[in-house]
Amino acid sequence: MPLKFGTSKAIAIAFGVLTVSSIGGMFTMIILFKAQTQNITMTPPPTPSPTTLAPPPNMRLPKSLVPQKYEISLAVHLYTKIIEEGNGSNPNITTPNQTMIFTGNSTVHFQCAQRTMSIFLNSRNLNVSSPVVLNENTKRNIKVSGLQHYDDESDFLKIELMDALEAEGNYSLFLSFHGEVSDNLEALYLSRYTDGIIKIFIAATNLQPTDARKVFPCFDEPDMKAVFKLTIFHRRETIALGNAAPYERNIIDDEWQRTTFRETPKMSTYLFAFTVVFFTTQCHFCVLFVQTYARPEAIDAGHTDYARDIARKLLRFYESQFEMKYSMGKIDQLALPDLYPAAMENWGLITYQEGFLLYQEGVSSLLHKEDIATVIAHELAHQWFGNEVTMKWWNDLWLNEGIATYLSYSAVDSVEPTFNIKEISIMNDLHDAFREDALASSHPLSPPSKAINTTDDILGMFDSISYSKGAIVLRMLANHVGEVVFNKGLQVSKNDFPFRSFPRLKPQAENQYRGHKAVRNTDDIAGFMNPWITQSGYPVITINTTNGQFSLYFLGHVKLHPVNSWTVEIEFISDASSKFEKVYLYNNEPAFITKNGEWILANIDCTGYYRVNYNPENWERLLAQLQTNRHSIPLLNRGQLIDDAFNLARAKLVNVTLALNSTLFLTNETTFLPWESAVRNLEYFILMFDRSEVYGPMQVSVIWLKNSCLQIILIFGNTHISYLCIYHTKCCFILRYTQLLAIKLACSNGLPECVEMANIHPNLRSEIYCQAVAAGEKEEWEFAWDMYQTSSDTSEKEQLRRALSCTKKIWLLSRYLDYTLDPEKIRLMDVASTIYYIAQNSAGQALAWNFIRANWDYVSQGDGAMLIAGVTSRFSTEFELEEVIYQSFLLAVALAIEQTQVNIQWVKENKDDVLQKKKP
Ligand SMILES: *[C@@H]1O[C@H](CO)[C@@H](O)[C@H](O)[C@H]1NC(C)=O
Ligand SMILES: *[C@@H]1O[C@H](CO)[C@@H](O)[C@H](O)[C@H]1NC(C)=O
Ligand SMILES: *[C@@H]1O[C@H](CO)[C@@H](O)[C@H](O)[C@H]1NC(C)=O
Ligand SMILES: *[C@@H]1O[C@H](CO)[C@@H](O)[C@H](O)[C@H]1NC(C)=O
Ligand SMILES: *[C@@H]1O[C@H](CO)[C@@H](O)[C@H](O)[C@H]1NC(C)=O
Ligand SMILES: *[C@@H]1O[C@H](CO)[C@@H](O)[C@H](O)[C@H]1NC(C)=O
Ligand SMILES: *[C@@H]1O[C@H](CO)[C@@H](O)[C@H](O)[C@H]1NC(C)=O
Ligand SMILES: [Zn+2]
Repeated sequence: MPLKFGTSKAIAIAFGVLTVSSIGGMFTMIILFKAQTQNITMTPPPTPSPTTLAPPPNMRLPKSLVPQKYEISLAVHLYTKIIEEGNGSNPNITTPNQTMIFTGNSTVHFQCAQRTMSIFLNSRNLNVSSPVVLNENTKRNIKVSGLQHYDDESDFLKIELMDALEAEGNYSLFLSFHGEVSDNLEALYLSRYTDGIIKIFIAATNLQPTDARKVFPCFDEPDMKAVFKLTIFHRRETIALGNAAPYERNIIDDEWQRTTFRETPKMSTYLFAFTVVFFTTQCHFCVLFVQTYARPEAIDAGHTDYARDIARKLLRFYESQFEMKYSMGKIDQLALPDLYPAAMENWGLITYQEGFLLYQEGVSSLLHKEDIATVIAHELAHQWFGNEVTMKWWNDLWLNEGIATYLSYSAVDSVEPTFNIKEISIMNDLHDAFREDALASSHPLSPPSKAINTTDDILGMFDSISYSKGAIVLRMLANHVGEVVFNKGLQVSKNDFPFRSFPRLKPQAENQYRGHKAVRNTDDIAGFMNPWITQSGYPVITINTTNGQFSLYFLGHVKLHPVNSWTVEIEFISDASSKFEKVYLYNNEPAFITKNGEWILANIDCTGYYRVNYNPENWERLLAQLQTNRHSIPLLNRGQLIDDAFNLARAKLVNVTLALNSTLFLTNETTFLPWESAVRNLEYFILMFDRSEVYGPMQVSVIWLKNSCLQIILIFGNTHISYLCIYHTKCCFILRYTQLLAIKLACSNGLPECVEMANIHPNLRSEIYCQAVAAGEKEEWEFAWDMYQTSSDTSEKEQLRRALSCTKKIWLLSRYLDYTLDPEKIRLMDVASTIYYIAQNSAGQALAWNFIRANWDYVSQGDGAMLIAGVTSRFSTEFELEEVIYQSFLLAVALAIEQTQVNIQWVKENKDDVLQKKKP
């Protein structure tokens, strides 16, 4: 699944980079503040409410049995359509009460690896009965002496036998069971929408990571792969879709039909999926490799066309890149009205939130189009990396998610080159990784498997470390060995897990500077990767051009692991020659390279996962170079220099003045990335100061930035010219980001240009709606609310849902918060992001915080951690810190406390500097 959309980045995608970047990157470098944080006494968490769900010592299934194949039969009793009463409908039709029950049975065939008297499976919330165990070799039944359900977090179902199962024997287990379709987007769940007065119900599944056990008893661990053969009983007017293609459809009676599916390849339980829908596809009866399903209206209006076309192109790209055959035989893409997270890569049956699949030409924004392409590219990459080859256990989730994220960079770039999205995606992931990895609460990419036991442990792995750091570290490896070798390595890994095969491949041997006496073993890829994978945190490369010293510096919480020998590859250029040079640092021993040129710039194109600090003289020279001819500094580095300067300033390694000066060259900058870096980092200033007395001076100090931004718009013409540019030429596509940025700044500053520029262009609409609601009264809010409720365009709905949070009226915000408790008004999957939007409005922050505390059980069903992080991002007073500590029973709060401490400290230390500063 794509984290970005599922958790903290749901927001990034919804509105483009801006909102997200404003919270991204702001909490780095906490380490220096450790001293302070240790003085703060943390109230110990209250003892958790009594529950039987404590983790037992052992949570993992014994490996004595090896599943081979499941034959599953399920009946979904849901009514598909219910006509609402009292609408002048035929009084003779009695509306049935919806029935949430599902029934089923399964036979799992397995081999015995080790003699045992009991069978352990996972099962949860299922009523299981009538076990039958068969010795498939002798065709004799084995008597069952007990069926025991562990009432704890292991979710074990133990079947005790009268006779032992013998090693090498083949057996099967039949079970009957029934359960309930869930109403909260978990496991087999209910999704619904209305078509006029008709309510339409859909049954869908979402099983990652540990919910397969809520649908059928199974060996619910990713490496216990098996073949699945599925039969679904469903109502006649619906269609049933599964991982594999349907094999047979039989009408049973007036009401029921049965769909039987082909056998799947061997796969993990979390990838199992089926849906019972009232959907259509563009081409019902043709045999297409990729089919896209959605509500009939969306299909008829052509809203799935883009997803269909891009998916085919992406598949072709992956197939040619890796020469890999796709083994499921078909891919269905499904737009579901309710799904959490944004998409799930179920093998052969990929599910999406409607907003990440449906695209309406001319109405949806281009940013939205990019999100769709990116999410589809990510999920399709999983069809190989994740589905075909899978991590052994959830501690290595980064392999699944890091590879899918990394591959989507090139995939989207190859099929939609005009998006110019590759560098932006890389920069976003790099910053997300830095932000999370700088906190002491970070974890290594690959923690020991024993550290990840419970479902909560597993869910904790779906974070920016696994996705963003995973992708960035893989990009670093690809750069180290060369892309061709890297892709070959992925290809070789088809039958093995990626990178087991890597140490056998030879990377390009092109290190010009050894920097160290020890001869480096260039074959040792595992050795190269090891420290980055097994340790959290990242190094700061420190370069002193006076004596030519390159050294490795680790911040605060990074505890160097004695067995890790670090190798850091540093690519650099100098003004004397723009040719790439390389140096390797080993084990924190410095290297010396003396250049006669004026400046040195290291980490070219940000291929390394580290920050770079220089001696003040080199910093000054680099900033001077940026102001005279910025083109000798590569684009990604222009953005990264700003980001490094601000973050090093927060860690007190460089002067705040230097950081502010690093943005001066933007006056001439016309590309998005450096602007984004500057705005994000300056927003931290604004975020920290906007409620205190220094806000006035702050505004003066950033006003020049807004003016420069407006100038850029003037250089490129008004929105009409930009519109032309965006739609009719390829050259300036990237400009749309810069524009959004400029308008955001201009509008939040109340400039009249705002209105002029705010020509209703899809890319700008979100900001304009927001400003309109902010300036308006109850009438405007209610108008926007009506539009939100009636609009069928998902992109428009998303923009409106955010705009509604922009009002300055407390009572409207408060009522809007209340609406989030009503799933008829705000879908459960949208609750967390809606509250988050409200909290980002300075008028709504306190409201949102109180609201979350009062309604935690309901609102945390989506993503509690994101909520806490979002709502507390502005907290910067001691009073507020106490508030957060008071809430320390929440897991997510640990992070928020750490961030708030950083914020308090930062404001304290920088208030004076900023007050004195007029113009950077
Ligand atoms: C309801 O049923 C009765 C008797 O079957 C029939 O006469 C009547 O026309 C029906 N009403 C409607 C609105 O169909
Ligand atoms: C639906 O449920 C209500 C209350 O439980 C009951 O009174 C009613 O008879 C049921 N209707 C049908 C059609 O089963
Ligand atoms: C369960 O198994 C039997 C055959 O043993 C089959 O006839 C029945 O339809 C199955 N499915 C369900 C949902 O009960
Ligand atoms: C996870 O379970 C193993 C036993 O299977 C145990 O040794 C380990 O300490 C557990 N880890 C945690 C973090 O609870
Ligand atoms: C750089 O090296 C020179 C010469 O050894 C030294 O005087 C200076 O303090 C160093 N600068 C930094 C920032 O470490
Ligand atoms: C902008 O570019 C002009 C000419 O290319 C240059 O003279 C000027 O110094 C630049 N300004 C800044 C702030 O980079
Ligand atoms: C920051 O740098 C400026 C100019 O380089 C200098 O005047 C100022 O004293 C420095 N501030 C600190 C805190 O070092
Ligand atoms: Zn994913």
